[in-house]
Amino acid sequence: MAQFRIQGQQPLQGEIAVTGAKNAALKFIAASLMCDAPVTLTNVPNIEDVRRMLHLVQSLGAGVQHNVEAHTVVIDPTTVNTQTISAELAKTIRPSIMFVGPLIARYGTARIGYPGGCVIGRRPIDLYLKGYERFGAQITSSDESFVFTAPTPRAMEFMFPLISVVATETFMITATRIPGTTVLKNCAMEPEVVALAEFLNSCGARITGAGTPTISIEGVTALSGGTVAMIPDRLEAGTFVILGALTRSNIRVTKCIPEHLENILDHLREMGVPFTVGPDWIETQPYSHTLKAINIKTHEYPGFVTDLQAPFTVLLTQAAGTSLVHETIFEGRMFYTDLLNRMGANIILCDPHRAIVEGPTALSGRKLDSPDIRAGIAMVLAGLAARGETIIGNIEQVDRGYESIDARLRSLGAAIIRE
Ligand code: EPZ
Repeated sequence: MAQFRIQGQQPLQGEIAVTGAKNAALKFIAASLMCDAPVTLTNVPNIEDVRRMLHLVQSLGAGVQHNVEAHTVVIDPTTVNTQTISAELAKTIRPSIMFVGPLIARYGTARIGYPGGCVIGRRPIDLYLKGYERFGAQITSSDESFVFTAPTPRAMEFMFPLISVVATETFMITATRIPGTTVLKNCAMEPEVVALAEFLNSCGARITGAGTPTISIEGVTALSGGTVAMIPDRLEAGTFVILGALTRSNIRVTKCIPEHLENILDHLREMGVPFTVGPDWIETQPYSHTLKAINIKTHEYPGFVTDLQAPFTVLLTQAAGTSLVHETIFEGRMFYTDLLNRMGANIILCDPHRAIVEGPTALSGRKLDSPDIRAGIAMVLAGLAARGETIIGNIEQVDRGYESIDARLRSLGAAIIRE
């Protein structure tokens, strides 16, 4: 298994460009199945999750041309020749569940194994099953897979009992070609939802309300293809800004959209982190004062994004005082705190959702494994800030979400090698 070897406390300095958003690209790949002509995606990050999602769409018979150097993918949905996604493919990535929507909307049937996903919680799919039934699908299941039969898919109304980003995107996509008006309530409002709606509308869809809690979709009979650039990855951008704060470095994070990180930036200001903001960049400044401990509570967009909870907690270990970290969305996303304690942090995990961080504490390098994508990058950040050497195993998890992360960090002066 590959690992990162990090020598901590190297001075960092320089500029790092943000890639296209993983959590946009994955959905655009699924959405392309709704189109009647090839779809070209640009600014697509070269990461494992994109490769897995492309593998899935290819397994349905769609044409895929992936130009890695150009960060471009062309998907031809006109050659889809099956509506079955194998159990072993489905469990490689959680958004595999998205494909059921386009398949039942266009072909009236779909068969899929149970989806995979990060070990950050139970990751149930009850909302998807309810929504697909509401669209008119009959569902049968075996221990390995689900079969959806929807000879006449119908428009529907759905009030989400809780906010789900991918379920919002899935039902929005599914409804684009189902006759009638579908109304989704208590929707996710993430920037990626808005970008997806804008693209589908550019192909002829009739979606209104994306970015608000209520989205209405009037079904159409055809959708053109098109070309679209992925929006910048706000999670990458936030991770690099936190790295600059954690290492007290001058790091300019470019090709990002600062307004997508407004909540995170406000929390950093409250801690006393110095940084400046431009139209498409954020630049951290070196500083010598001690940061102030603060409380964080994750919430769907535009709240404190859960995917930056782990990296942000690493920063909280360096703040003076007591911080409460409250992860409201997932019940399995705080166990990395044990790893930070092994590095010298002083964190009490009160329950699966809450941790108390006492700081500042000096961090020392350790040998650790990456639990999931976001906790994995948090361990990389901790290693870059720690005294001594840190070895991080299971870095396939980090590669799922961050393109060439070791090479890009080395360009800032980090002593990190992949071996
Ligand atoms: C998206 O996951 C993101 N993934 C996640 O990022 C992100 O952490 C999450 O939204 C929250 O913002 C992608 O966009 C690909 P969920 P999503 O499973 O929408 C409950 C990363 O690191 N729920 O819907 O799939 C669930 O238990 C990933 O990039 C049900 O109860 O999140 C949780 O409490 C990790 N039943 C909440 O909804 C369901 O059927 C959201 O979880 C579905 C979800």
